[in-house]
Amino acid sequence: MIVAVSGAGGLIGSALVSSLRAAGHRAIPLVRRAPWPGENALRWDPSSGAITPAGSAVADAVVHLAGERIVGLRWTADKKRRIRESRVTATRLLVQTLTRLPKPPAVLVCASGTGYYGHGGDGVLTEDSRAGTGFLADLARDWEAATAAAIAQGIRVVNLRLGVVLSARGGALAAMLTPFRLGLGGVVGGGAQWMSWIALDDVIGAILHVLSTDSLRGPVNAVAPAPVTNAEFTRTLGRVLGRPTLLPLPAFAARLALGEMADELLLTSQRVLPARLEASNYPFRHPHLEGALRAALGAEPSASARLSGR
Ligand SMILES: NC(=O)c1ccc[n+]([C@@H]2O[C@H](COP(=O)([O-])OP(=O)(O)OC[C@H]3O[C@@H](n4cnc5c(N)ncnc54)[C@H](OP(=O)(O)O)[C@@H]3O)[C@@H](O)[C@H]2O)c1
Repeated sequence: MIVAVSGAGGLIGSALVSSLRAAGHRAIPLVRRAPWPGENALRWDPSSGAITPAGSAVADAVVHLAGERIVGLRWTADKKRRIRESRVTATRLLVQTLTRLPKPPAVLVCASGTGYYGHGGDGVLTEDSRAGTGFLADLARDWEAATAAAIAQGIRVVNLRLGVVLSARGGALAAMLTPFRLGLGGVVGGGAQWMSWIALDDVIGAILHVLSTDSLRGPVNAVAPAPVTNAEFTRTLGRVLGRPTLLPLPAFAARLALGEMADELLLTSQRVLPARLEASNYPFRHPHLEGALRAALGAEPSASARLSGR
């Protein structure tokens, strides 16, 4: 299969391109600069959607991951505009280009996030749950809606609602490692908020799965089947690193440091289940948090984790 990948330089994209190539597929990064001489890549301009050199086809499938980094020092008005435009507008323009090709791709996998559900408390959330409210919920809803023209054209579209991706190479876990290793880790806010996570390996596995599963279309939650509370996540990461986690970060301090981002990223509660991945028999490699963290951090499984299969 020929698969074009936007955001190929990012955490998920770089791992995906390597895995696709290792599995014998042809992966073509869509890059935002002129490709190097001899580089197997196409140029993509997010502000116009244009892909060059223009051809009659781009690929059998497109995996669209690009977007301005969500986490920043502060969500200023300008940062929020860039986060939205690089997803909502860029997706609409990319879809326009793809649908006008003489041979459009058969499938488009477009990243989205579990932020779609907003603050869900203790309630279980599946793909059938309603959109929530807030900046990230509005973003995910509009980002998904930006793929509508592809669906109308008969392209199979999967909106992959990603949870917190766990990898030592980047993202939330990498950011937590230094404070936790220094013994400065602790629960955030009350610690009862649910966190829906997924190992990077399973993100890649899930993308390959949805690419090859014709029955999957529309929203697909890319989260492990065992979400945890922030308190459990904190305890587990401390255990895996062999460090104490006694220093809580009160909600007011998180808000002081991060403003609106604290509520939307750290204090929000999302107990999301991968109903559609499970119904389509996706075999999770890391269904439990402790095993996922040990694999991501290259730590030996603990005796209790080995016995309980965690
Ligand atoms: N990682 C997570 O925990 C997580 C959770 C939920 C949703 N997601 C979503 O999944 C997607 C991929 O995640 P990721 O962790 O791989 O993200 P990432 O590491 O931040 O990579 C995103 C990539 O998008 C491209 N990009 C950056 N700024 C851009 C801009 N202003 N306009 C267009 N493209 C831009 C860059 O790739 P190039 O330089 O190669 O173009 C960048 O490497 C993102 O859209 C993210 O929001 C991720």
